[in-house]
Amino acid sequence: MGKRYAVFGHPVSHSLSPRIHAAFARQAGIALDYVAIDAPDFAAALDAFDGDGANVTLPHKAAAAAACATLGEAARRCGVANTLTRRGGGWHGDNTDGIGLVRDLTGRLGLDLRGRRTLLLGAGGGARGVAPALLDAGVADLFVVNRTPARADALADMLGTPDRVHPRYFDDLATLGEFDLIVNATSATRGAEGFPALPMSLAGPRSAAVDLSYGEAAVAFLAWGRAAGVRDAVDGLGMLVEQAAESFRLWHGLLPDTAPVYAALRERDAVLVSAD
Ligand code: ATR
Repeated sequence: MGKRYAVFGHPVSHSLSPRIHAAFARQAGIALDYVAIDAPDFAAALDAFDGDGANVTLPHKAAAAAACATLGEAARRCGVANTLTRRGGGWHGDNTDGIGLVRDLTGRLGLDLRGRRTLLLGAGGGARGVAPALLDAGVADLFVVNRTPARADALADMLGTPDRVHPRYFDDLATLGEFDLIVNATSATRGAEGFPALPMSLAGPRSAAVDLSYGEAAVAFLAWGRAAGVRDAVDGLGMLVEQAAESFRLWHGLLPDTAPVYAALRERDAVLVSAD
């Protein structure tokens, strides 16, 4: 038996991570065991786990960062971790969501993010994970809009670049003009209230609308984007594969070829739409 890994989340039964890591391991000729662990109580579940590394997904990414003895730069900058590696007696935490999103957009989709006027919807774990990487990728102004204003302010403060990062509120959306890149990092469609109405004025024919979710959870936002006439409407499946690849690299020292794994998952899109 090779090394042992797990993804912790709640719920987690539909997670694609075990399948993705198994595919990467086959590619690399590495033996590993990777399972999904449903964790209502993250700290207790992590304590009970004696494996070598873990991915952490909703809603535990901030708890994961807090559970780490040390943090890599990306996790430290955003306060959320999705990749844990056992080091000595404790855990080392990284965040690969941001690099995963940027690689999907710039690599697979060939988008140039430099100078793009960007709107980030949401200020929770997902938004915090990707915001530093978007800034590093060279987006121009980054507007952060969140239902709870204090969290947009807190994320903007955390990013520490007040000249480029602007917290705004849902009520302001109609006055913000058009964006080149609109990233939905809210969990709105997963909640009972459904997805909030967004003004069409946010998007135009050169815009890209990107949802960090995939399957059913991405449908409402991407439908809005298409109705608003965006050039690219992108769900989070590619980001999911890319963040997994970067986790794999951190654990095993090899960056997998993501294209065949992404293609195989995309083929099962009909299944995904009903699964998550
Ligand atoms: P995640 O890790 O998915 O980001 P989270 O930390 O709970 O999960 O954050 C969820 C995000 O979706 C938050 O930005 C949340 O807004 P609040 O900070 O105001 O809670 C946003 N969100 C969830 N449901 C929403 C809704 N119905 N309308 C608008 N925003 C919503």
